[in-house]
Amino acid sequence: MKNSESASKGEILGLYFHHKAFFNHAFLISFLINVLAFAVPIHMLQVYDRVLTSGHVETLLVITGAVFFALLLQAMLDALRSRLLLSLAAEFEAKMRDQIFALSVIRSSKRKLNQLPPLWQMCQSVKTFISGPWMGAFLDLPWVPLYLVVIYQFHPLLGVSSIVAASLMVLIALGNHKATQGSTAKATQLSVAVREHLESSIRNADAIRGLGMLPHATRLWTERLNKANEAAGMAQAVSTNATSLSKFFRLFLQVWTLSLGAYLVVNQEMSPGGIIANSIMLTKALASIELISSGWKNIQEALQGLINLKVMEEAPELKNLGKKSIVKEADGQLAAENLLFYADAGQRAILKGVNFVLDQGDVLAVVGPSGSGKSSLIRLLLGTWVPNAGTARMDGADVQLLDSEYYFENVGYLPPQVLLYPGTVSENIARLAVPDKEKILRATEAAGCHDLILHLPNGYDTEVGANGGNLSLGQQQRIALARALYGNPRYLFLDEPNSNLDNEGEAALKQAIAHASQNGTTVLLVAHRSSMLGLCNKILVIRNGQQVVFGPRDEVLAKISNEPKAAA
Ligand SMILES: Nc1ncnc2c1ncn2[C@@H]1O[C@H](COP(=O)(O)OP(=O)(O)OP(=O)(O)O)[C@@H](O)[C@H]1O
Ligand SMILES: [Mg+2]
Repeated sequence: MKNSESASKGEILGLYFHHKAFFNHAFLISFLINVLAFAVPIHMLQVYDRVLTSGHVETLLVITGAVFFALLLQAMLDALRSRLLLSLAAEFEAKMRDQIFALSVIRSSKRKLNQLPPLWQMCQSVKTFISGPWMGAFLDLPWVPLYLVVIYQFHPLLGVSSIVAASLMVLIALGNHKATQGSTAKATQLSVAVREHLESSIRNADAIRGLGMLPHATRLWTERLNKANEAAGMAQAVSTNATSLSKFFRLFLQVWTLSLGAYLVVNQEMSPGGIIANSIMLTKALASIELISSGWKNIQEALQGLINLKVMEEAPELKNLGKKSIVKEADGQLAAENLLFYADAGQRAILKGVNFVLDQGDVLAVVGPSGSGKSSLIRLLLGTWVPNAGTARMDGADVQLLDSEYYFENVGYLPPQVLLYPGTVSENIARLAVPDKEKILRATEAAGCHDLILHLPNGYDTEVGANGGNLSLGQQQRIALARALYGNPRYLFLDEPNSNLDNEGEAALKQAIAHASQNGTTVLLVAHRSSMLGLCNKILVIRNGQQVVFGPRDEVLAKISNEPKAAA
Protein backbone atom coordinates (compact mmCIF):
# COMPACT_ATOMS: atom_id res chain seq x y z
CA MET A 1 0.00 0.00 0.00
CA LYS A 2 2.72 2.42 1.09
CA ASN A 3 4.80 1.34 -1.84
CA SER A 4 2.06 1.92 -4.35
CA GLU A 5 1.32 5.33 -2.85
CA SER A 6 4.94 6.42 -3.03
CA ALA A 7 5.14 4.92 -6.51
CA SER A 8 2.10 6.93 -7.61
CA LYS A 9 3.67 10.13 -6.33
CA GLY A 10 6.83 9.16 -8.17
CA GLU A 11 4.93 8.60 -11.39
CA ILE A 12 3.27 12.01 -11.30
CA LEU A 13 6.68 13.57 -10.72
CA GLY A 14 8.08 11.37 -13.48
CA LEU A 15 5.38 12.55 -15.85
CA TYR A 16 6.17 16.12 -14.83
CA PHE A 17 9.91 15.80 -15.40
CA HIS A 18 9.43 14.09 -18.76
CA HIS A 19 7.25 16.94 -19.97
CA LYS A 20 8.54 19.83 -17.88
CA ALA A 21 8.05 22.57 -20.48
CA PHE A 22 4.42 21.55 -21.10
CA PHE A 23 3.62 21.57 -17.42
CA ASN A 24 5.34 24.87 -16.73
CA HIS A 25 3.37 26.56 -19.49
CA ALA A 26 0.12 24.95 -18.36
CA PHE A 27 0.89 26.05 -14.80
CA LEU A 28 1.47 29.67 -15.85
CA ILE A 29 -1.70 29.72 -17.96
CA SER A 30 -3.67 28.24 -15.04
CA PHE A 31 -2.38 31.02 -12.82
CA LEU A 32 -3.60 33.66 -15.29
CA ILE A 33 -6.96 31.92 -15.74
CA ASN A 34 -7.49 31.85 -11.99
CA VAL A 35 -6.48 35.48 -11.51
CA LEU A 36 -8.84 36.52 -14.32
CA ALA A 37 -11.60 34.52 -12.64
CA PHE A 38 -11.69 37.23 -9.97
CA ALA A 39 -13.18 39.60 -12.57
CA VAL A 40 -16.75 38.41 -12.00
CA PRO A 41 -16.79 38.70 -8.17
CA ILE A 42 -15.08 42.11 -8.43
CA HIS A 43 -17.75 43.15 -10.94
CA MET A 44 -20.50 42.02 -8.53
CA LEU A 45 -18.88 43.92 -5.71
CA GLN A 46 -18.66 47.11 -7.75
CA VAL A 47 -22.23 46.81 -9.04
CA TYR A 48 -23.75 46.26 -5.59
CA ASP A 49 -21.54 48.52 -3.52
CA ARG A 50 -20.83 51.34 -5.96
CA VAL A 51 -23.20 51.55 -8.90
CA LEU A 52 -26.41 50.71 -7.04
CA THR A 53 -25.61 53.09 -4.20
CA SER A 54 -24.25 55.97 -6.31
CA GLY A 55 -26.23 55.48 -9.53
CA HIS A 56 -23.13 56.11 -11.69
CA VAL A 57 -23.93 54.63 -15.12
CA GLU A 58 -20.46 55.50 -16.49
CA THR A 59 -18.83 53.35 -13.81
CA LEU A 60 -21.19 50.51 -14.76
CA LEU A 61 -20.17 50.82 -18.41
CA VAL A 62 -16.47 50.86 -17.61
CA ILE A 63 -16.48 47.85 -15.29
CA THR A 64 -18.75 45.87 -17.64
CA GLY A 65 -16.36 46.57 -20.50
CA ALA A 66 -13.37 45.57 -18.36
CA VAL A 67 -15.03 42.31 -17.32
CA PHE A 68 -15.91 41.60 -20.96
CA PHE A 69 -12.23 41.72 -21.91
CA ALA A 70 -11.16 39.79 -18.82
CA LEU A 71 -13.63 36.99 -19.60
CA LEU A 72 -12.62 36.96 -23.26
CA LEU A 73 -8.97 36.62 -22.29
CA GLN A 74 -9.87 33.91 -19.78
CA ALA A 75 -11.73 31.95 -22.48
CA MET A 76 -8.77 32.25 -24.84
CA LEU A 77 -6.34 31.10 -22.19
CA ASP A 78 -8.66 28.23 -21.32
CA ALA A 79 -8.70 27.12 -24.95
CA LEU A 80 -4.92 27.45 -25.10
CA ARG A 81 -4.52 25.31 -21.98
CA SER A 82 -6.82 22.64 -23.45
CA ARG A 83 -4.77 22.56 -26.63
CA LEU A 84 -1.58 22.34 -24.63
CA LEU A 85 -2.95 19.38 -22.66
CA LEU A 86 -4.15 17.73 -25.87
CA SER A 87 -0.68 17.93 -27.36
CA LEU A 88 0.82 16.70 -24.08
CA ALA A 89 -1.51 13.69 -24.30
CA ALA A 90 -0.46 13.09 -27.91
CA GLU A 91 3.22 13.39 -26.96
CA PHE A 92 2.73 10.93 -24.11
CA GLU A 93 1.16 8.40 -26.49
CA ALA A 94 3.88 8.93 -29.08
CA LYS A 95 6.55 8.27 -26.46
CA MET A 96 4.90 5.04 -25.34
CA ARG A 97 3.29 3.53 -28.45
CA ASP A 98 6.28 1.73 -30.02
CA GLN A 99 7.44 0.23 -26.74
CA ILE A 100 3.90 -0.89 -25.94
CA PHE A 101 3.51 -2.52 -29.34
CA ALA A 102 6.89 -4.27 -29.15
CA LEU A 103 6.39 -5.45 -25.58
CA SER A 104 2.84 -6.69 -26.23
CA VAL A 105 4.13 -8.77 -29.15
CA ILE A 106 7.22 -10.02 -27.29
CA ARG A 107 5.25 -10.96 -24.16
CA SER A 108 2.63 -12.67 -26.27
CA SER A 109 5.33 -14.71 -28.04
CA LYS A 110 6.51 -15.84 -24.62
CA ARG A 111 2.93 -16.78 -23.71
CA LYS A 112 3.14 -14.31 -20.85
CA LEU A 113 0.21 -12.25 -22.02
CA ASN A 114 -1.82 -12.74 -18.87
CA GLN A 115 0.99 -11.59 -16.64
CA LEU A 116 0.55 -8.11 -17.93
CA PRO A 117 -2.57 -5.97 -17.92
CA PRO A 118 -3.35 -4.61 -21.38
CA LEU A 119 -0.72 -1.93 -21.87
CA TRP A 120 -2.42 -0.14 -24.68
CA GLN A 121 -5.61 0.34 -22.67
CA MET A 122 -3.54 1.84 -19.85
CA CYS A 123 -1.82 4.24 -22.17
CA GLN A 124 -5.24 5.34 -23.44
CA SER A 125 -6.56 5.93 -19.92
CA VAL A 126 -3.55 8.14 -19.12
CA LYS A 127 -4.12 9.96 -22.39
CA THR A 128 -7.82 10.51 -21.59
CA PHE A 129 -6.86 11.76 -18.14
CA ILE A 130 -4.41 14.31 -19.51
CA SER A 131 -6.67 15.62 -22.27
CA GLY A 132 -9.93 15.38 -20.27
CA PRO A 133 -11.21 17.92 -17.75
CA TRP A 134 -9.41 16.35 -14.79
CA MET A 135 -5.92 17.53 -15.58
CA GLY A 136 -7.27 21.08 -15.84
CA ALA A 137 -8.90 20.61 -12.44
CA PHE A 138 -5.57 19.47 -10.99
CA LEU A 139 -3.90 22.54 -12.43
CA ASP A 140 -6.56 24.75 -10.83
CA LEU A 141 -6.17 23.04 -7.46
CA PRO A 142 -3.11 25.05 -6.27
CA TRP A 143 -5.18 28.28 -6.61
CA VAL A 144 -7.97 27.11 -4.31
CA PRO A 145 -6.13 28.54 -1.24
CA LEU A 146 -5.91 31.89 -3.06
CA TYR A 147 -9.71 32.09 -3.20
CA LEU A 148 -9.96 31.04 0.44
CA VAL A 149 -7.51 33.77 1.50
CA VAL A 150 -9.49 36.41 -0.39
CA ILE A 151 -12.75 35.20 1.18
CA TYR A 152 -11.03 35.35 4.58
CA GLN A 153 -10.14 38.98 3.87
CA PHE A 154 -13.84 39.78 3.53
CA HIS A 155 -14.62 38.30 6.92
CA PRO A 156 -12.80 35.71 9.06
CA LEU A 157 -16.06 33.88 9.72
CA LEU A 158 -16.68 33.44 5.99
CA GLY A 159 -13.07 32.39 5.54
CA VAL A 160 -13.21 29.72 8.24
CA SER A 161 -16.51 28.41 6.94
CA SER A 162 -15.04 28.12 3.40
CA ILE A 163 -11.89 26.39 4.64
CA VAL A 164 -14.01 23.85 6.51
CA ALA A 165 -16.11 23.37 3.36
CA ALA A 166 -13.08 22.80 1.12
CA SER A 167 -11.56 20.39 3.66
CA LEU A 168 -14.80 18.41 3.83
CA MET A 169 -14.90 18.14 0.04
CA VAL A 170 -11.30 16.89 0.01
CA LEU A 171 -12.17 14.36 2.73
CA ILE A 172 -15.10 13.07 0.66
CA ALA A 173 -12.80 12.71 -2.38
CA LEU A 174 -10.19 10.82 -0.33
CA GLY A 175 -12.86 8.60 1.24
CA ASN A 176 -14.12 7.83 -2.25
CA HIS A 177 -10.59 6.90 -3.33
CA LYS A 178 -10.06 4.54 -0.37
CA ALA A 179 -13.50 2.93 -0.69
CA THR A 180 -13.32 2.22 -4.42
CA GLN A 181 -9.64 1.32 -4.82
CA GLY A 182 -10.06 -2.46 -4.36
CA SER A 183 -13.34 -2.85 -6.22
CA THR A 184 -12.15 -0.77 -9.17
CA ALA A 185 -9.08 -2.98 -9.61
CA LYS A 186 -11.24 -6.12 -9.42
CA ALA A 187 -13.75 -4.73 -11.91
CA THR A 188 -10.97 -3.93 -14.38
CA GLN A 189 -9.54 -7.44 -14.06
CA LEU A 190 -12.94 -9.05 -14.64
CA SER A 191 -13.67 -6.85 -17.63
CA VAL A 192 -10.43 -8.11 -19.23
CA ALA A 193 -11.74 -11.69 -18.83
CA VAL A 194 -14.99 -10.66 -20.53
CA ARG A 195 -13.15 -9.17 -23.47
CA GLU A 196 -10.88 -12.21 -23.80
CA HIS A 197 -13.90 -14.53 -23.80
CA LEU A 198 -15.50 -12.58 -26.65
CA GLU A 199 -12.26 -12.45 -28.65
CA SER A 200 -11.54 -16.19 -28.23
CA SER A 201 -15.11 -17.05 -29.18
CA ILE A 202 -14.83 -15.01 -32.36
CA ARG A 203 -11.52 -16.72 -33.18
CA ASN A 204 -13.08 -20.13 -32.52
CA ALA A 205 -16.30 -19.30 -34.35
CA ASP A 206 -16.17 -22.42 -36.56
CA ALA A 207 -15.76 -24.80 -33.63
CA ILE A 208 -18.43 -23.00 -31.62
CA ARG A 209 -20.95 -23.36 -34.46
CA GLY A 210 -19.93 -26.82 -35.61
CA LEU A 211 -19.84 -28.36 -32.15
CA GLY A 212 -23.05 -26.75 -30.93
CA MET A 213 -21.14 -24.81 -28.29
CA LEU A 214 -22.97 -21.53 -28.88
CA PRO A 215 -25.50 -21.82 -25.98
CA HIS A 216 -22.74 -22.86 -23.56
CA ALA A 217 -20.31 -20.20 -24.74
CA THR A 218 -23.15 -17.66 -24.43
CA ARG A 219 -23.95 -18.82 -20.89
CA LEU A 220 -20.30 -18.51 -19.90
CA TRP A 221 -20.21 -15.07 -21.49
CA THR A 222 -23.29 -13.97 -19.50
CA GLU A 223 -21.81 -15.34 -16.28
CA ARG A 224 -18.50 -13.55 -16.79
CA LEU A 225 -20.23 -10.34 -17.81
CA ASN A 226 -22.52 -10.47 -14.76
CA LYS A 227 -19.53 -10.89 -12.47
CA ALA A 228 -17.72 -7.98 -14.10
CA ASN A 229 -20.84 -5.80 -13.97
CA GLU A 230 -21.39 -6.68 -10.32
CA ALA A 231 -17.86 -5.59 -9.42
CA ALA A 232 -18.12 -2.46 -11.55
CA GLY A 233 -21.54 -1.71 -10.02
CA MET A 234 -20.12 -1.94 -6.51
CA ALA A 235 -17.33 0.48 -7.29
CA GLN A 236 -19.73 2.77 -9.10
CA ALA A 237 -22.31 2.73 -6.28
CA VAL A 238 -19.75 3.96 -3.75
CA SER A 239 -18.44 6.49 -6.21
CA THR A 240 -21.89 7.87 -7.11
CA ASN A 241 -22.74 8.17 -3.41
CA ALA A 242 -19.61 10.21 -2.89
CA THR A 243 -20.38 12.36 -5.94
CA SER A 244 -23.95 13.02 -4.78
CA LEU A 245 -22.73 13.79 -1.28
CA SER A 246 -20.18 16.27 -2.52
CA LYS A 247 -22.75 17.90 -4.84
CA PHE A 248 -25.15 18.24 -1.91
CA PHE A 249 -22.38 19.77 0.18
CA ARG A 250 -21.43 22.24 -2.48
CA LEU A 251 -25.01 23.41 -3.03
CA PHE A 252 -25.69 23.67 0.67
CA LEU A 253 -22.45 25.53 1.26
CA GLN A 254 -23.43 28.04 -1.37
CA VAL A 255 -26.70 28.66 0.47
CA TRP A 256 -24.85 28.66 3.79
CA THR A 257 -22.37 31.26 2.53
CA LEU A 258 -25.20 33.45 1.24
CA SER A 259 -27.00 33.21 4.58
CA LEU A 260 -23.83 33.83 6.54
CA GLY A 261 -23.06 36.80 4.27
CA ALA A 262 -26.57 38.16 4.77
CA TYR A 263 -26.16 37.80 8.54
CA LEU A 264 -22.89 39.74 8.41
CA VAL A 265 -24.48 42.45 6.23
CA VAL A 266 -27.41 42.72 8.64
CA ASN A 267 -24.89 43.16 11.48
CA GLN A 268 -23.07 45.70 9.31
CA GLU A 269 -19.87 43.71 9.30
CA MET A 270 -19.76 43.42 5.49
CA SER A 271 -21.08 45.29 2.42
CA PRO A 272 -24.04 43.72 0.49
CA GLY A 273 -21.86 43.18 -2.62
CA GLY A 274 -19.70 40.81 -0.56
CA ILE A 275 -22.55 38.28 -0.33
CA ILE A 276 -22.66 37.52 -4.06
CA ALA A 277 -18.91 37.99 -4.59
CA ASN A 278 -18.07 35.46 -1.89
CA SER A 279 -20.61 32.96 -3.12
CA ILE A 280 -19.11 33.10 -6.64
CA MET A 281 -15.56 32.68 -5.31
CA LEU A 282 -16.50 29.73 -3.14
CA THR A 283 -18.25 28.03 -6.07
CA LYS A 284 -15.14 28.48 -8.20
CA ALA A 285 -12.87 27.22 -5.41
CA LEU A 286 -14.91 24.07 -4.87
CA ALA A 287 -15.52 23.32 -8.56
CA SER A 288 -12.11 21.76 -9.18
CA ILE A 289 -12.33 19.68 -5.98
CA GLU A 290 -15.73 18.39 -7.04
CA LEU A 291 -14.56 17.65 -10.58
CA ILE A 292 -11.66 15.59 -9.23
CA SER A 293 -13.96 13.80 -6.82
CA SER A 294 -16.50 12.88 -9.53
CA GLY A 295 -13.85 11.72 -12.01
CA TRP A 296 -11.95 9.72 -9.42
CA LYS A 297 -12.43 6.37 -11.16
CA ASN A 298 -10.78 7.64 -14.34
CA ILE A 299 -8.06 9.39 -12.36
CA GLN A 300 -7.33 6.18 -10.45
CA GLU A 301 -7.17 4.16 -13.68
CA ALA A 302 -4.79 6.70 -15.16
CA LEU A 303 -2.57 6.61 -12.06
CA GLN A 304 -2.48 2.82 -12.09
CA GLY A 305 -1.72 3.01 -15.81
CA LEU A 306 1.18 5.37 -15.18
CA ILE A 307 2.63 3.05 -12.54
CA ASN A 308 2.34 -0.02 -14.78
CA LEU A 309 3.73 1.80 -17.79
CA LYS A 310 6.71 2.83 -15.69
CA VAL A 311 7.25 -0.84 -14.85
CA MET A 312 6.98 -1.57 -18.56
CA GLU A 313 9.73 0.88 -19.41
CA GLU A 314 12.07 -1.18 -17.24
CA ALA A 315 11.03 -4.51 -18.77
CA PRO A 316 14.12 -6.61 -19.58
CA GLU A 317 12.62 -7.44 -22.97
CA LEU A 318 12.98 -3.83 -24.03
CA LYS A 319 16.59 -3.53 -22.93
CA ASN A 320 18.16 -4.87 -26.09
CA LEU A 321 15.52 -3.49 -28.39
CA GLY A 322 17.08 -1.16 -30.90
CA LYS A 323 20.62 -2.32 -30.09
CA LYS A 324 22.40 -3.50 -33.18
CA SER A 325 23.57 -7.07 -33.05
CA ILE A 326 27.14 -7.88 -33.89
CA VAL A 327 27.82 -10.99 -35.90
CA LYS A 328 31.50 -11.74 -36.40
CA GLU A 329 31.26 -14.32 -39.12
CA ALA A 330 28.17 -15.33 -41.07
CA ASP A 331 29.12 -19.01 -41.19
CA GLY A 332 25.59 -20.43 -41.24
CA GLN A 333 26.32 -22.51 -38.18
CA LEU A 334 23.38 -23.27 -35.88
CA ALA A 335 24.21 -24.49 -32.40
CA ALA A 336 22.18 -25.64 -29.42
CA GLU A 337 24.42 -25.68 -26.37
CA ASN A 338 22.88 -27.67 -23.56
CA LEU A 339 19.49 -25.95 -23.87
CA LEU A 340 17.36 -26.29 -20.79
CA PHE A 341 13.88 -24.84 -20.52
CA TYR A 342 11.30 -24.93 -17.76
CA ALA A 343 7.66 -23.91 -17.88
CA ASP A 344 5.37 -22.94 -15.02
CA ALA A 345 7.98 -21.16 -12.90
CA GLY A 346 10.40 -24.05 -12.88
CA GLN A 347 7.86 -26.76 -12.09
CA ARG A 348 8.09 -28.67 -15.36
CA ALA A 349 11.07 -29.22 -17.64
CA ILE A 350 10.09 -28.88 -21.30
CA LEU A 351 13.59 -29.36 -22.68
CA LYS A 352 16.26 -31.08 -20.63
CA GLY A 353 19.59 -30.37 -22.28
CA VAL A 354 19.64 -30.34 -26.06
CA ASN A 355 23.03 -30.29 -27.78
CA PHE A 356 23.88 -30.19 -31.44
CA VAL A 357 25.73 -28.20 -34.06
CA LEU A 358 24.61 -27.81 -37.67
CA ASP A 359 26.89 -26.59 -40.41
CA GLN A 360 25.95 -24.42 -43.34
CA GLY A 361 23.67 -26.30 -45.74
CA ASP A 362 22.75 -29.02 -43.24
CA VAL A 363 19.15 -30.17 -43.18
CA LEU A 364 18.15 -31.41 -39.75
CA ALA A 365 14.90 -33.27 -39.14
CA VAL A 366 13.67 -33.04 -35.56
CA VAL A 367 11.43 -35.98 -34.76
CA GLY A 368 9.61 -37.09 -31.66
CA PRO A 369 6.10 -37.70 -30.39
CA SER A 370 3.54 -34.94 -29.79
CA GLY A 371 4.45 -32.77 -26.85
CA SER A 372 8.08 -33.90 -26.84
CA GLY A 373 9.33 -30.31 -27.23
CA LYS A 374 10.03 -29.88 -30.96
CA SER A 375 8.21 -26.56 -31.35
CA SER A 376 9.66 -25.39 -28.03
CA LEU A 377 13.16 -26.14 -29.35
CA ILE A 378 12.49 -23.94 -32.39
CA ARG A 379 11.28 -21.12 -30.14
CA LEU A 380 14.50 -21.35 -28.12
CA LEU A 381 16.64 -21.44 -31.26
CA LEU A 382 14.78 -18.40 -32.62
CA GLY A 383 15.26 -16.59 -29.32
CA THR A 384 11.54 -15.98 -28.71
CA TRP A 385 11.88 -18.04 -25.54
CA VAL A 386 14.79 -17.51 -23.19
CA PRO A 387 16.42 -20.76 -22.03
CA ASN A 388 16.85 -21.34 -18.30
CA ALA A 389 20.33 -22.62 -19.06
CA GLY A 390 22.45 -23.10 -22.16
CA THR A 391 22.74 -20.98 -25.29
CA ALA A 392 21.33 -21.05 -28.79
CA ARG A 393 23.62 -19.62 -31.43
CA MET A 394 23.29 -18.49 -35.02
CA ASP A 395 26.47 -17.43 -36.82
CA GLY A 396 28.24 -17.90 -33.49
CA ALA A 397 26.15 -15.20 -31.76
CA ASP A 398 23.82 -15.80 -28.84
CA VAL A 399 20.36 -15.52 -30.43
CA GLN A 400 19.15 -13.48 -27.46
CA LEU A 401 21.40 -10.67 -28.66
CA LEU A 402 20.25 -10.65 -32.28
CA ASP A 403 18.03 -7.80 -33.45
CA SER A 404 14.97 -7.81 -35.70
CA GLU A 405 16.99 -6.62 -38.67
CA TYR A 406 19.19 -9.71 -38.38
CA TYR A 407 16.14 -11.97 -38.33
CA PHE A 408 14.55 -10.10 -41.23
CA GLU A 409 17.59 -10.63 -43.39
CA ASN A 410 18.89 -14.01 -42.27
CA VAL A 411 16.09 -16.11 -40.87
CA GLY A 412 13.06 -17.79 -42.39
CA TYR A 413 10.44 -19.38 -40.15
CA LEU A 414 7.26 -21.23 -40.91
CA PRO A 415 5.28 -21.59 -37.67
CA PRO A 416 3.04 -24.61 -37.07
CA GLN A 417 -0.10 -22.47 -37.15
CA VAL A 418 0.14 -20.16 -40.08
CA LEU A 419 -1.68 -16.90 -39.51
CA LEU A 420 -1.35 -14.41 -42.30
CA TYR A 421 -1.85 -10.69 -41.76
CA PRO A 422 -4.82 -8.81 -43.11
CA GLY A 423 -3.26 -7.28 -46.21
CA THR A 424 -2.29 -8.42 -49.69
CA VAL A 425 -0.42 -11.61 -50.56
CA SER A 426 2.58 -9.46 -51.61
CA GLU A 427 2.65 -7.60 -48.30
CA ASN A 428 2.54 -10.87 -46.41
CA ILE A 429 5.38 -12.41 -48.37
CA ALA A 430 7.46 -9.24 -47.93
CA ARG A 431 6.98 -9.59 -44.16
CA LEU A 432 5.05 -6.27 -44.02
CA ALA A 433 8.06 -4.34 -45.34
CA VAL A 434 7.71 -2.33 -48.55
CA PRO A 435 7.29 -5.17 -51.07
CA ASP A 436 10.28 -5.74 -53.34
CA LYS A 437 8.80 -7.30 -56.50
CA GLU A 438 11.94 -9.15 -57.54
CA LYS A 439 12.53 -10.62 -54.09
CA ILE A 440 8.89 -11.67 -53.89
CA LEU A 441 9.08 -13.44 -57.24
CA ARG A 442 12.28 -15.22 -56.23
CA ALA A 443 10.64 -16.34 -52.99
CA THR A 444 7.45 -17.59 -54.63
CA GLU A 445 9.41 -19.40 -57.30
CA ALA A 446 11.62 -21.02 -54.66
CA ALA A 447 8.50 -21.99 -52.71
CA GLY A 448 6.80 -23.23 -55.89
CA CYS A 449 3.67 -21.16 -55.30
CA HIS A 450 3.88 -18.55 -58.06
CA ASP A 451 1.18 -20.26 -60.17
CA LEU A 452 -1.00 -20.83 -57.15
CA ILE A 453 -0.90 -17.08 -56.38
CA LEU A 454 -1.63 -16.14 -60.01
CA HIS A 455 -4.81 -18.23 -59.80
CA LEU A 456 -6.07 -16.24 -56.80
CA PRO A 457 -8.80 -13.65 -57.65
CA ASN A 458 -6.35 -10.70 -57.68
CA GLY A 459 -3.08 -12.55 -57.95
CA TYR A 460 -0.40 -11.00 -55.74
CA ASP A 461 -2.80 -8.21 -54.77
CA THR A 462 -5.40 -10.59 -53.32
CA GLU A 463 -6.46 -9.55 -49.84
CA VAL A 464 -5.88 -12.48 -47.48
CA GLY A 465 -8.46 -11.16 -44.98
CA ALA A 466 -8.35 -11.28 -41.19
CA ASN A 467 -6.41 -14.36 -40.04
CA GLY A 468 -6.00 -15.38 -43.69
CA GLY A 469 -9.77 -15.96 -43.89
CA ASN A 470 -9.98 -15.62 -47.71
CA LEU A 471 -7.52 -18.47 -48.36
CA SER A 472 -7.53 -22.20 -47.68
CA LEU A 473 -5.16 -23.56 -45.05
CA GLY A 474 -3.00 -25.22 -47.71
CA GLN A 475 -2.80 -21.98 -49.72
CA GLN A 476 -1.84 -20.08 -46.58
CA GLN A 477 0.87 -22.59 -45.72
CA ARG A 478 2.38 -22.37 -49.19
CA ILE A 479 2.36 -18.56 -49.11
CA ALA A 480 3.89 -18.68 -45.63
CA LEU A 481 6.70 -20.84 -47.06
CA ALA A 482 7.38 -18.09 -49.60
CA ARG A 483 7.37 -15.58 -46.71
CA ALA A 484 9.94 -17.76 -44.92
CA LEU A 485 12.10 -17.86 -48.06
CA TYR A 486 11.81 -14.09 -48.72
CA GLY A 487 15.26 -12.54 -48.96
CA ASN A 488 17.00 -15.92 -49.33
CA PRO A 489 17.68 -16.46 -45.59
CA ARG A 490 20.74 -18.25 -44.21
CA TYR A 491 18.61 -20.17 -41.70
CA LEU A 492 15.28 -21.82 -42.30
CA PHE A 493 13.06 -23.16 -39.53
CA LEU A 494 10.08 -25.18 -40.67
CA ASP A 495 7.63 -26.43 -38.05
CA GLU A 496 5.44 -29.10 -39.66
CA PRO A 497 5.49 -27.25 -42.98
CA ASN A 498 3.46 -29.96 -44.74
CA SER A 499 0.59 -30.30 -42.26
CA ASN A 500 -1.95 -28.84 -44.71
CA LEU A 501 -0.32 -29.72 -48.03
CA ASP A 502 -1.47 -32.00 -50.85
CA ASN A 503 0.96 -34.02 -52.95
CA GLU A 504 1.73 -31.11 -55.24
CA GLY A 505 2.35 -28.81 -52.27
CA GLU A 506 4.60 -31.36 -50.59
CA ALA A 507 6.62 -31.85 -53.77
CA ALA A 508 7.10 -28.06 -54.00
CA LEU A 509 8.15 -27.97 -50.34
CA LYS A 510 10.71 -30.73 -50.83
CA GLN A 511 12.16 -28.97 -53.82
CA ALA A 512 12.33 -25.70 -51.87
CA ILE A 513 14.23 -27.38 -49.01
CA ALA A 514 16.65 -29.13 -51.36
CA HIS A 515 17.23 -25.91 -53.25
CA ALA A 516 17.77 -23.90 -50.05
CA SER A 517 20.26 -26.44 -48.73
CA GLN A 518 22.19 -26.38 -52.01
CA ASN A 519 22.37 -22.60 -51.72
CA GLY A 520 23.93 -22.93 -48.29
CA THR A 521 20.86 -22.39 -46.12
CA THR A 522 20.90 -24.28 -42.83
CA VAL A 523 17.51 -25.94 -42.46
CA LEU A 524 15.78 -27.24 -39.36
CA LEU A 525 12.64 -29.18 -40.08
CA VAL A 526 10.07 -30.62 -37.71
CA ALA A 527 8.34 -33.45 -39.47
CA HIS A 528 5.77 -35.99 -38.45
CA ARG A 529 5.67 -37.76 -41.81
CA SER A 530 8.59 -40.05 -42.59
CA SER A 531 8.32 -38.96 -46.25
CA MET A 532 10.22 -35.83 -45.26
CA LEU A 533 13.19 -37.72 -43.80
CA GLY A 534 14.63 -38.41 -47.26
CA LEU A 535 15.54 -34.73 -47.53
CA CYS A 536 17.63 -34.40 -44.44
CA ASN A 537 21.23 -35.31 -43.74
CA LYS A 538 20.91 -35.20 -39.96
CA ILE A 539 18.27 -36.28 -37.48
CA LEU A 540 17.58 -35.27 -33.90
CA VAL A 541 15.22 -37.43 -31.87
CA ILE A 542 13.67 -35.95 -28.74
CA ARG A 543 11.27 -37.57 -26.34
CA ASN A 544 9.81 -35.94 -23.26
CA GLY A 545 12.13 -33.01 -23.74
CA GLN A 546 15.14 -35.32 -23.62
CA GLN A 547 17.59 -35.59 -26.49
CA VAL A 548 17.56 -39.29 -27.44
CA VAL A 549 19.93 -39.22 -30.35
CA PHE A 550 21.49 -36.78 -32.79
CA GLY A 551 23.65 -37.60 -35.79
CA PRO A 552 23.85 -38.30 -39.51
CA ARG A 553 20.55 -39.52 -40.90
CA ASP A 554 21.44 -43.09 -41.77
CA GLU A 555 23.18 -43.72 -38.45
CA VAL A 556 20.19 -42.41 -36.52
CA LEU A 557 17.71 -44.35 -38.67
CA ALA A 558 19.69 -47.51 -38.07
CA LYS A 559 19.68 -46.88 -34.32
CA ILE A 560 15.96 -46.17 -34.32
CA SER A 561 15.13 -49.32 -36.24
CA ASN A 562 17.17 -51.35 -33.73
CA GLU A 563 15.33 -49.62 -30.89
CA PRO A 564 11.86 -49.01 -32.30
CA LYS A 565 10.51 -47.70 -29.00
CA ALA A 566 13.06 -44.93 -28.79
CA ALA A 567 11.48 -42.82 -31.48
CA ALA A 568 7.90 -43.71 -30.74
N1 LIG B 1 3.53 -21.74 -23.44
C1 LIG B 1 3.70 -22.89 -22.82
N2 LIG B 1 3.65 -22.90 -21.47
C2 LIG B 1 3.81 -24.04 -20.80
N3 LIG B 1 4.02 -25.22 -21.37
C3 LIG B 1 4.06 -25.28 -22.71
C4 LIG B 1 3.89 -24.13 -23.51
N4 LIG B 1 3.97 -24.49 -24.79
C5 LIG B 1 4.18 -25.80 -24.81
N5 LIG B 1 4.23 -26.28 -23.56
C6 LIG B 1 4.49 -27.66 -23.16
O1 LIG B 1 5.74 -28.02 -23.66
C7 LIG B 1 5.76 -29.35 -24.07
C8 LIG B 1 6.33 -29.43 -25.45
O2 LIG B 1 5.46 -28.75 -26.36
P1 LIG B 1 5.82 -28.55 -27.88
O3 LIG B 1 4.79 -27.69 -28.46
O4 LIG B 1 7.22 -28.13 -27.95
O5 LIG B 1 5.68 -30.03 -28.41
P2 LIG B 1 5.87 -30.58 -29.87
O6 LIG B 1 6.92 -31.62 -29.82
O7 LIG B 1 6.05 -29.47 -30.83
O8 LIG B 1 4.46 -31.27 -30.11
P3 LIG B 1 3.61 -31.41 -31.46
O9 LIG B 1 4.26 -32.47 -32.26
O10 LIG B 1 2.29 -31.83 -30.98
O11 LIG B 1 3.62 -30.09 -32.12
C9 LIG B 1 4.34 -29.87 -23.93
O12 LIG B 1 4.27 -30.65 -22.78
C10 LIG B 1 3.51 -28.63 -23.75
O13 LIG B 1 2.46 -28.87 -22.87
MG1 LIG C 1 4.89 -28.67 -32.36
